[in-house]
Amino acid sequence: MPHKNFYITTPIYYPSGKLHIGHSYTTVAADTISRYKRMQGYDVMFLTGTDEHGQKIELKAANAGVTPQQYVDEIVAGIKDLWKLLNISYDKFIRTTDKYHEKSVQRIFEKLYEQGDIYKGSYKGLYCTPCESFWTESQLVDGKCPDCGREVEQAEEEAYFLRLSKYADRLIEYYDAHPDFIQPESRKTEMVNNFIKPGLEDLCVSRTSFTWGIPVTFDPKHVVYVWLDALSNYITALGYLNDEENKFEKFWPADIHLVGKEIVRFHTIVWPIMLMALDLPLPKKVYGHGWLLLDGGKMSKSKGNVVDPVVLCERYGVDAIRYFLLREIPFGNDGVFSNEALINRINSDLANDLGNLVSRSTAMVEKYFGGVLPGNRESGEFDYELINLAIEVKHSVEHGIDNLEFSTALTDLFKLVSRTNKYIDETAPWVLAKDESKAARLSAVMYNLCESLRIISILIAPFMPDTAKAIQSCFDATDIFSWEQADTWGLLPDGTTITKTAALFPRIDMETEIAALNEINPSASADAKAEKSDIKENITTLAQIGIEDFAKVELRTAKVITCEPIKKAKKLLKLTLDDGSGTERIVASGIAKWYTPEDLIGHTIIIVANLKPAVFCGVESNGMILAADCGEDDVKVIFADNMPVGCKVR
Ligand code: ME8
Ligand code: MG
Repeated sequence: MPHKNFYITTPIYYPSGKLHIGHSYTTVAADTISRYKRMQGYDVMFLTGTDEHGQKIELKAANAGVTPQQYVDEIVAGIKDLWKLLNISYDKFIRTTDKYHEKSVQRIFEKLYEQGDIYKGSYKGLYCTPCESFWTESQLVDGKCPDCGREVEQAEEEAYFLRLSKYADRLIEYYDAHPDFIQPESRKTEMVNNFIKPGLEDLCVSRTSFTWGIPVTFDPKHVVYVWLDALSNYITALGYLNDEENKFEKFWPADIHLVGKEIVRFHTIVWPIMLMALDLPLPKKVYGHGWLLLDGGKMSKSKGNVVDPVVLCERYGVDAIRYFLLREIPFGNDGVFSNEALINRINSDLANDLGNLVSRSTAMVEKYFGGVLPGNRESGEFDYELINLAIEVKHSVEHGIDNLEFSTALTDLFKLVSRTNKYIDETAPWVLAKDESKAARLSAVMYNLCESLRIISILIAPFMPDTAKAIQSCFDATDIFSWEQADTWGLLPDGTTITKTAALFPRIDMETEIAALNEINPSASADAKAEKSDIKENITTLAQIGIEDFAKVELRTAKVITCEPIKKAKKLLKLTLDDGSGTERIVASGIAKWYTPEDLIGHTIIIVANLKPAVFCGVESNGMILAADCGEDDVKVIFADNMPVGCKVR
C-alpha cells in the first residue's frame, strides 16, 4: 500500500487571554478530521500551537507586571488544559517561543534577504510623536493626528519589506490551476478582487518599535513581523531548517490549513508567496470557516463577550459541546451561538434520539435474552429498510467530512439514529416478547438494533470520541469497530454479550438551566468582578437628578440599515438607522475600534433621539448610540434585538 500521509493544521492561537468557544470551533473541527483520517488508515500529523510574539503580548505582560515569557507561559498552560478537556488529539504543539522555531525563522529571513526577496527600505509616513503612530494623508483629520488632534510630521523609519508584488502573477496562476486551493469558493473571489487585482504592495516585515519578537540576525534592532514568524510555524514544526524534527519530507505540503475567515488573506497571499520565495510547494487547501457570533458581534477576547468552553463542558460533557459546534452551523458560514440552541440540540438530538436509542436497545437485549442473543434469528418486515440505510450512511459521512460539511455529515448520521428508533416502534419488541413463538424474530430485531448501534458508534467516533467508546463498551467484542467495518452488515458475532448502559445524555430542563447559566456570567472573572464593584461604589457617590431631567432625554430603539467607516476618522462609524419615523437617520459613533460594520448591520440598538445635530468629519450626526463602558478600554453597544423599532425607552 502506498504511504497515506495527512497533514492538517489549525491557526496558532494568540495567548493574550482566555480562549473561548470560538477558538474551540477550529480546533474541534481539525480534531474531527484528524481522527477520521487516522481511522481511515492515514498517518496523520495534526499541528496546533501558540503565536506568542508581538506588541500586543508585550503590552499585556507589562500591564500584568510580568515578563512576556512569564505571561505567555501561564496562558499556554491553560490552552493545553483546554485542548485536553476537549479531547483534542494533536500530534504536536508548537510555540513560537520554542528555540528551534526561532532559529528557523531567522534562517528563513536570512535566506529571503540574501536572495533579494526581502530588502531594506524605509517606511514613510506622517508621524505623530506623542501617539507613536504613522498615518497616511487620507487618515488625517484637518491635517492633524486623528487620535489626538496634534500636529504630525513627515517621518521615515527603516524597515524590511517582502516583495509580494513580484509574485502576484504567479499567485493568480496558482489559484487558477488549483481551484480547490481556497475554500469556500467565495473567499477566493474576495482575495482576488479586494487584494490582488488592486495591486499587491510589498509587505513591511520587520518592526523596531518593540522588542518582544524574533530578532533579525544581521540587524538586531529589528524584530521579525509576527505574521512572518507565525506562518512559518507550519514548516518549522516539521523540522524545516532545524533539527528538532525530521518530518518535512513526509508531510509537506500540508493537506489543509484550517483557519477563520479573517485570516484567510494571510494564508492565501502572504504564506504562499513566502513558500514560492523559499521554492517550496504550496499547501493543498486553505479553508476559511465562519465565525461564531454572540449578541450580534464576533466573540472575541478583546470584546470580552466570550463563552467559556470549560463551563459548558463541565455542565454538559465534552461530546455535547463538540456535537453542537459541528452540527449547529454550516462550517463555512457565520452562526450565532446561544445557550438555548445548545440545550435544544442536547435534548432533541442527544438525549431523545441517540441516548434513548442506546439505552433502550441495550436494556431490551438484557431484559429479553439476559444480554446474549440466540443464534436462531428470523428476518422480517422493516429489516431491509434499516439495513440498507445503515450500510449507506458511511458514504454520506465520508462525503460530508471530506468537504468540511460536518453539519451535513452529522445530519445524515442522525438519520440512521432516527431510523433505528423508528424500527423499534415498528417492530414493537415488547409485543414480540409476549409470544414465545416469536423468539427468533425478537432475536433478529435485537440483533439488528445492535448492528445499527455498532455502525453508529464507528461513524460517530471522529466527532464524539467518548460517546463512541461508551457505546462500544456495551459490546463484549473488540474487532468490529474499525472504519472499514462501518458499511458491512452482520459483523456482530453470535454470543456477544451486550450490557445495558446508563443514559448517555441526561435531559436538561431549559428554564432552570438558562437561569443557572445567566448566573454564571461568562466574563465573571475576578477582574470583571472587581471592575463591577468599582462601578457600584462610584454610582452611590454620583450627583442626583430629578425625573424631570431624565424625561428630557428621548431614548428610542432603531435598527441599523447600513454602516460604514468614516474615511477621515479612524474611530468613527457612520450608521444609517431606521428609527420608525419613515425617514432614515444618520448617526456617527466613535465605536470603530470595537465594532466592524458587519457586527452592527441588522441589529436593533438604542439611540438618544433628541440630541442636537453635530458634524463629525463632514458627517452630520443626528443622535447618539447607547453603549456600555465596560472598563479596560472596552465598549459594548447595547443591543435591543427583540424590540420593534421606534419604541420609546424609559
Ligand atoms: O489569528 N468564531 O490567532 P487568534 C470562530 N495568531 N472562530 C474564531 C472566533 C470566533 N468567534 N474567534 C477566533 C490568530 N476564532 C493568529 C493566527 S496562524 C499562522 C496565526 C478563530 O487567537 C480565528 O478565526 O486570534 C482563528 O482561526 C483562530 O481562532 C485563532 O485566532
Ligand atoms: Mg484574531
